[in-house]
Amino acid sequence: MTINIHKSSVSFDAYEKMAPYYFESVDTKPFNAYFERPATLSLLPDVQGKSVLDAGCAAGWYSKWLLEHGANVTAVDFSPSMIAMTRKRVGNKAVVRQADLHEPLSFLADNSMDLVLSSLALHYLKTWEVVLTECKRILKPQGQLIFSVHHPVRDMEAFPAGNYFRTEIVEEEWETNGETVKVRFYRRSLSTIITALLDAGLMIEKLLEPTPTRQFAELHPAEYKQLTTKPHFLMIRARKS
Ligand SMILES: C[S@@+](CC[C@H](N)C(=O)[O-])C[C@H]1O[C@@H](n2cnc3c(N)ncnc32)[C@H](O)[C@@H]1O
Repeated sequence: MTINIHKSSVSFDAYEKMAPYYFESVDTKPFNAYFERPATLSLLPDVQGKSVLDAGCAAGWYSKWLLEHGANVTAVDFSPSMIAMTRKRVGNKAVVRQADLHEPLSFLADNSMDLVLSSLALHYLKTWEVVLTECKRILKPQGQLIFSVHHPVRDMEAFPAGNYFRTEIVEEEWETNGETVKVRFYRRSLSTIITALLDAGLMIEKLLEPTPTRQFAELHPAEYKQLTTKPHFLMIRARKS
Protein backbone atom coordinates (compact mmCIF):
# COMPACT_ATOMS: atom_id res chain seq x y z
CA MET A 1 0.00 0.00 0.00
CA THR A 2 1.34 3.48 -0.82
CA ILE A 3 0.16 6.69 0.76
CA ASN A 4 -0.17 10.26 -0.43
CA ILE A 5 2.61 12.43 0.95
CA HIS A 6 1.34 15.64 2.52
CA LYS A 7 2.25 18.79 0.57
CA SER A 8 4.25 20.20 3.53
CA SER A 9 6.40 17.07 3.84
CA VAL A 10 9.99 17.57 2.77
CA SER A 11 13.03 15.42 2.03
CA PHE A 12 10.96 12.45 0.90
CA ASP A 13 13.22 11.89 -2.12
CA ALA A 14 16.36 12.42 -0.02
CA TYR A 15 15.35 9.73 2.49
CA GLU A 16 14.26 7.36 -0.26
CA LYS A 17 17.76 7.73 -1.69
CA MET A 18 19.57 7.45 1.67
CA ALA A 19 17.74 4.34 2.97
CA PRO A 20 20.46 1.76 2.11
CA TYR A 21 23.13 4.12 3.50
CA TYR A 22 21.14 4.49 6.70
CA PHE A 23 20.81 0.75 7.03
CA GLU A 24 24.54 0.19 6.56
CA SER A 25 26.17 3.22 8.15
CA VAL A 26 24.06 5.15 10.62
CA ASP A 27 24.31 2.61 13.45
CA THR A 28 27.95 3.44 13.98
CA LYS A 29 28.09 7.11 12.91
CA PRO A 30 29.55 9.01 15.88
CA PHE A 31 26.84 11.71 15.74
CA ASN A 32 24.24 9.00 16.25
CA ALA A 33 26.08 6.37 18.31
CA TYR A 34 27.95 8.70 20.68
CA PHE A 35 25.76 11.77 20.76
CA GLU A 36 22.09 11.61 19.78
CA ARG A 37 21.29 8.07 20.91
CA PRO A 38 22.81 8.08 24.40
CA ALA A 39 20.94 11.31 25.18
CA THR A 40 17.61 10.19 23.76
CA LEU A 41 17.86 6.75 25.41
CA SER A 42 18.58 8.42 28.76
CA LEU A 43 15.05 9.86 28.65
CA LEU A 44 13.34 6.49 28.21
CA PRO A 45 11.76 4.65 31.12
CA ASP A 46 12.02 0.84 31.36
CA VAL A 47 10.31 -0.24 28.12
CA GLN A 48 9.78 -3.92 29.05
CA GLY A 49 6.20 -4.84 28.12
CA LYS A 50 5.43 -1.29 26.96
CA SER A 51 3.70 -0.41 23.68
CA VAL A 52 5.93 2.03 21.81
CA LEU A 53 5.49 3.96 18.57
CA ASP A 54 8.76 4.70 16.76
CA ALA A 55 7.72 7.79 14.77
CA GLY A 56 10.08 8.41 11.83
CA CYS A 57 11.83 5.07 12.29
CA ALA A 58 14.25 5.41 9.32
CA ALA A 59 16.21 2.13 9.04
CA GLY A 60 14.90 0.89 12.39
CA TRP A 61 17.77 1.27 14.85
CA TYR A 62 15.46 2.40 17.66
CA SER A 63 12.80 -0.17 16.77
CA LYS A 64 15.36 -2.95 17.13
CA TRP A 65 16.67 -1.54 20.41
CA LEU A 66 13.12 -1.29 21.77
CA LEU A 67 12.36 -4.89 20.75
CA GLU A 68 15.57 -6.10 22.37
CA HIS A 69 14.48 -4.37 25.57
CA GLY A 70 11.09 -6.07 25.64
CA ALA A 71 8.80 -3.45 24.07
CA ASN A 72 5.92 -4.07 21.66
CA VAL A 73 6.86 -1.86 18.74
CA THR A 74 4.95 -0.07 16.01
CA ALA A 75 7.19 1.82 13.58
CA VAL A 76 6.18 4.40 10.99
CA ASP A 77 8.02 6.42 8.37
CA PHE A 78 6.85 8.16 5.18
CA SER A 79 9.64 6.62 3.09
CA PRO A 80 8.80 3.18 1.64
CA SER A 81 12.53 2.46 1.29
CA MET A 82 13.12 3.23 4.97
CA ILE A 83 10.14 1.03 5.83
CA ALA A 84 11.75 -1.77 3.81
CA MET A 85 15.01 -1.28 5.76
CA THR A 86 13.21 -1.41 9.11
CA ARG A 87 11.39 -4.58 8.02
CA LYS A 88 14.75 -6.05 6.96
CA ARG A 89 16.10 -5.28 10.42
CA VAL A 90 13.19 -6.36 12.63
CA GLY A 91 11.32 -8.86 10.43
CA ASN A 92 7.80 -9.45 11.70
CA LYS A 93 8.65 -8.68 15.32
CA ALA A 94 7.21 -5.16 14.98
CA VAL A 95 4.27 -3.61 13.14
CA VAL A 96 5.99 -1.48 10.47
CA ARG A 97 3.87 0.87 8.34
CA GLN A 98 4.34 3.69 5.92
CA ALA A 99 2.69 6.83 7.29
CA ASP A 100 3.17 10.58 6.92
CA LEU A 101 3.32 12.21 10.34
CA HIS A 102 1.53 15.28 8.93
CA GLU A 103 -1.58 13.07 8.73
CA PRO A 104 -3.68 11.34 11.42
CA LEU A 105 -2.40 7.88 12.36
CA SER A 106 -5.90 6.44 12.04
CA PHE A 107 -4.72 2.82 12.25
CA LEU A 108 -3.64 3.39 15.87
CA ALA A 109 -6.31 3.23 18.57
CA ASP A 110 -6.92 5.88 21.22
CA ASN A 111 -5.01 5.29 24.49
CA SER A 112 -3.03 2.41 22.98
CA MET A 113 0.62 3.47 23.43
CA ASP A 114 2.72 3.82 26.56
CA LEU A 115 5.39 5.76 24.69
CA VAL A 116 5.98 7.61 21.45
CA LEU A 117 9.66 7.88 20.54
CA SER A 118 10.65 10.16 17.68
CA SER A 119 14.32 10.63 16.97
CA LEU A 120 15.41 13.42 14.63
CA ALA A 121 12.20 13.34 12.60
CA LEU A 122 9.93 16.15 13.82
CA HIS A 123 12.00 18.94 12.25
CA TYR A 124 10.91 17.61 8.85
CA LEU A 125 7.32 18.55 9.69
CA LYS A 126 6.05 22.01 8.81
CA THR A 127 3.34 21.91 11.45
CA TRP A 128 3.24 19.90 14.66
CA GLU A 129 -0.47 20.28 15.48
CA VAL A 130 -1.52 17.00 13.85
CA VAL A 131 1.39 14.90 15.07
CA LEU A 132 1.13 16.17 18.65
CA THR A 133 -2.67 15.84 18.73
CA GLU A 134 -2.20 12.29 17.48
CA CYS A 135 0.43 11.60 20.16
CA LYS A 136 -2.03 12.82 22.80
CA ARG A 137 -4.82 10.68 21.33
CA ILE A 138 -2.85 7.43 21.02
CA LEU A 139 -0.95 7.74 24.31
CA LYS A 140 -2.43 6.10 27.37
CA PRO A 141 -3.10 8.42 30.32
CA GLN A 142 0.34 9.39 31.71
CA GLY A 143 1.98 8.07 28.51
CA GLN A 144 5.13 9.84 27.36
CA LEU A 145 6.45 11.42 24.18
CA ILE A 146 10.25 11.41 23.90
CA PHE A 147 11.81 13.16 20.95
CA SER A 148 15.00 14.70 19.62
CA VAL A 149 15.32 17.52 17.09
CA HIS A 150 18.00 19.95 15.95
CA HIS A 151 18.59 22.61 18.57
CA PRO A 152 17.17 25.98 17.41
CA VAL A 153 20.51 27.67 18.19
CA ARG A 154 22.33 25.19 15.93
CA ASP A 155 19.90 25.85 13.08
CA MET A 156 20.09 29.60 13.54
CA GLU A 157 23.90 29.44 13.40
CA ALA A 158 23.76 27.29 10.29
CA PHE A 159 21.21 29.61 8.61
CA PRO A 160 21.90 33.09 10.05
CA ALA A 161 20.02 34.89 7.29
CA GLY A 162 16.67 33.63 8.55
CA ASN A 163 14.24 35.02 11.08
CA TYR A 164 14.57 33.07 14.36
CA PHE A 165 10.97 33.77 15.32
CA ARG A 166 9.46 32.26 12.17
CA THR A 167 9.24 28.57 11.29
CA GLU A 168 11.27 28.53 8.09
CA ILE A 169 12.29 25.86 5.63
CA VAL A 170 16.04 25.44 5.19
CA GLU A 171 18.22 23.19 3.06
CA GLU A 172 21.52 21.43 3.75
CA GLU A 173 23.74 19.31 1.56
CA TRP A 174 24.83 16.00 3.08
CA GLU A 175 27.59 13.78 1.77
CA THR A 176 26.57 10.13 1.84
CA ASN A 177 28.62 7.46 0.10
CA GLY A 178 30.38 10.12 -1.97
CA GLU A 179 27.04 11.50 -3.19
CA THR A 180 25.55 14.88 -2.31
CA VAL A 181 21.98 14.75 -1.09
CA LYS A 182 19.89 17.89 -0.53
CA VAL A 183 17.98 17.66 2.74
CA ARG A 184 15.27 20.20 3.63
CA PHE A 185 13.78 20.67 7.06
CA TYR A 186 12.00 23.28 9.18
CA ARG A 187 13.85 25.53 11.61
CA ARG A 188 11.64 26.61 14.52
CA SER A 189 12.18 28.63 17.67
CA LEU A 190 12.38 27.19 21.18
CA SER A 191 9.13 28.88 22.21
CA THR A 192 7.38 27.43 19.13
CA ILE A 193 8.49 23.94 20.20
CA ILE A 194 7.46 24.37 23.84
CA THR A 195 4.16 26.08 23.03
CA ALA A 196 3.20 23.34 20.54
CA LEU A 197 3.67 20.69 23.24
CA LEU A 198 1.76 22.58 25.90
CA ASP A 199 -1.08 23.46 23.48
CA ALA A 200 -1.40 19.75 22.65
CA GLY A 201 -1.79 18.90 26.35
CA LEU A 202 1.68 17.41 26.74
CA MET A 203 3.50 18.49 29.90
CA ILE A 204 7.27 18.83 29.66
CA GLU A 205 9.07 16.63 32.20
CA LYS A 206 12.64 16.94 31.05
CA LEU A 207 14.64 18.86 28.47
CA LEU A 208 18.21 18.00 27.45
CA GLU A 209 20.84 19.96 25.56
CA PRO A 210 23.36 17.13 25.46
CA THR A 211 27.05 17.01 24.73
CA PRO A 212 28.68 14.00 23.03
CA THR A 213 30.18 11.10 24.98
CA ARG A 214 33.90 10.49 25.58
CA GLN A 215 34.01 7.97 22.70
CA PHE A 216 33.06 10.83 20.39
CA ALA A 217 35.93 12.91 21.78
CA GLU A 218 38.41 10.15 21.02
CA LEU A 219 37.25 9.91 17.39
CA HIS A 220 36.72 13.62 16.63
CA PRO A 221 38.49 15.81 19.20
CA ALA A 222 38.08 19.11 17.33
CA GLU A 223 34.36 18.60 16.68
CA TYR A 224 33.92 17.40 20.27
CA LYS A 225 35.35 20.67 21.55
CA GLN A 226 32.88 22.63 19.42
CA LEU A 227 29.95 20.44 20.46
CA THR A 228 30.75 20.92 24.13
CA THR A 229 30.57 24.69 23.78
CA LYS A 230 27.52 25.09 21.47
CA PRO A 231 24.19 23.26 21.52
CA HIS A 232 23.40 20.92 18.66
CA PHE A 233 20.49 18.66 19.65
CA LEU A 234 17.44 19.22 21.83
CA MET A 235 15.68 16.30 23.53
CA ILE A 236 12.37 16.56 25.34
CA ARG A 237 10.29 14.14 27.37
CA ALA A 238 6.66 15.19 27.74
CA ARG A 239 3.76 13.44 29.46
CA LYS A 240 0.07 13.23 28.57
CA SER A 241 -1.68 14.94 31.43
C1 LIG B 1 17.11 11.49 10.55
S1 LIG B 1 16.02 10.21 10.15
C2 LIG B 1 15.57 9.47 11.68
C3 LIG B 1 16.65 8.64 12.26
C4 LIG B 1 16.17 7.49 13.09
N1 LIG B 1 15.18 7.86 14.08
C5 LIG B 1 17.38 6.80 13.69
O1 LIG B 1 17.92 7.30 14.69
O2 LIG B 1 17.83 5.81 13.13
C6 LIG B 1 14.51 11.06 9.81
C7 LIG B 1 13.41 10.11 9.37
O3 LIG B 1 12.18 10.83 9.39
C8 LIG B 1 11.43 10.41 8.27
N2 LIG B 1 10.44 11.46 7.98
C9 LIG B 1 10.68 12.73 7.59
N3 LIG B 1 9.52 13.38 7.41
C10 LIG B 1 8.52 12.52 7.71
C11 LIG B 1 7.11 12.61 7.71
N4 LIG B 1 6.49 13.73 7.33
N5 LIG B 1 6.40 11.52 8.08
C12 LIG B 1 7.02 10.37 8.43
N6 LIG B 1 8.36 10.21 8.44
C13 LIG B 1 9.10 11.28 8.08
C14 LIG B 1 12.46 10.22 7.17
O4 LIG B 1 12.01 9.38 6.13
C15 LIG B 1 13.61 9.59 7.94
O5 LIG B 1 13.55 8.20 7.91
